[in-house]
Amino acid sequence: MREEVVKRLYIFSPSLRIWHWVNFLSITVLFLTGLYIGSPFFIGSSGYEATYAYAHNLTMDFIRFIHFSAGYVLFFSFLFRLYIAFFRKGDRLFIPAVWKSDFWKGVLEMVLHYIFIKPWHRTYIRNPLARLAYFIFYMALALMIATGFAMYGLSKPDGFWAKLFGWLVPLLGGEFMVHMWHHWLAWLIVLFVIVHVYMVIRYDVIEKEGEVSSMFNGMKNFKETPVDAEELS
Ligand code: HEM
Ligand code: HEM
Repeated sequence: MREEVVKRLYIFSPSLRIWHWVNFLSITVLFLTGLYIGSPFFIGSSGYEATYAYAHNLTMDFIRFIHFSAGYVLFFSFLFRLYIAFFRKGDRLFIPAVWKSDFWKGVLEMVLHYIFIKPWHRTYIRNPLARLAYFIFYMALALMIATGFAMYGLSKPDGFWAKLFGWLVPLLGGEFMVHMWHHWLAWLIVLFVIVHVYMVIRYDVIEKEGEVSSMFNGMKNFKETPVDAEELS
């Protein structure tokens, strides 16, 4: 058996990896509790009278409390995520170099590869199409947080959250539209997660770069130097 030369590159800092899994947990909780807030299916057809609701654990009040708590975790971990990007290059790989023509060539290359037209693609630490997808995801997450806290602030119009995000309500066309954006973006994020997990596992199996474990140990294995390797040093 021929042994392959493997270049092992350290890419993701511990901070990024911790953020990734905290983000994963908070989004999972937010999505499940959010679904319930939008359509309280397991209360049953009659639900509980407000007076008796506190005798049961699965009240809307409790589910909303969990949603808002996870919302705080999501928001502060997002700020942490942006903060760490200032310090390590490996934590800035979500920024797409849209101003470089090579970047768009790379996007095209990956699309052609995924639709089975181009049998191979260049080796990347993070391919341009993935960068674009992560960038759009971060934008969606920021809007999700802003719309969430804008709604949260509505119950206290002169409070901190209303001051911070309240301006979004008239901008998006009123309360109803803020709810709708929050709802649509929730599904966009779910779509991202489904494709993301599929792509990560696909990469792991096909490219054999140790993709899944990279979000645990920070390392990936390459058979040749990735074309974007200079972005790490
Ligand atoms: C709610 C679910 C998830 C969300 C929102 C999410 C989000 C993200 C984001 C935003 C990044 C880019 C990080 C950066 O800025 O560099 C990323 C990378 C990554 N995620 Fe997830 N993730 C989720 C679930 C998972 C799961 C379940 C796995 C494991 C199977 C996973 C494995 C990875 C790996 C390996 C990378 C690095 C991929 C690369 O280098 O392109 N993620 N994830
Ligand atoms: C990825 C993150 C999040 C997801 C997937 C999510 C999901 C949802 C969903 C599906 C709904 C129900 C919308 C509807 O159908 O009417 C909802 C409502 C809501 N969410 Fe989120 N959410 C997220 C983040 C946040 C954050 C950060 C906050 C900030 C506190 C927040 C606050 C709210 C509020 C205030 C409501 C309306 C509650 C009500 O009307 O009683 N959400 N969320």
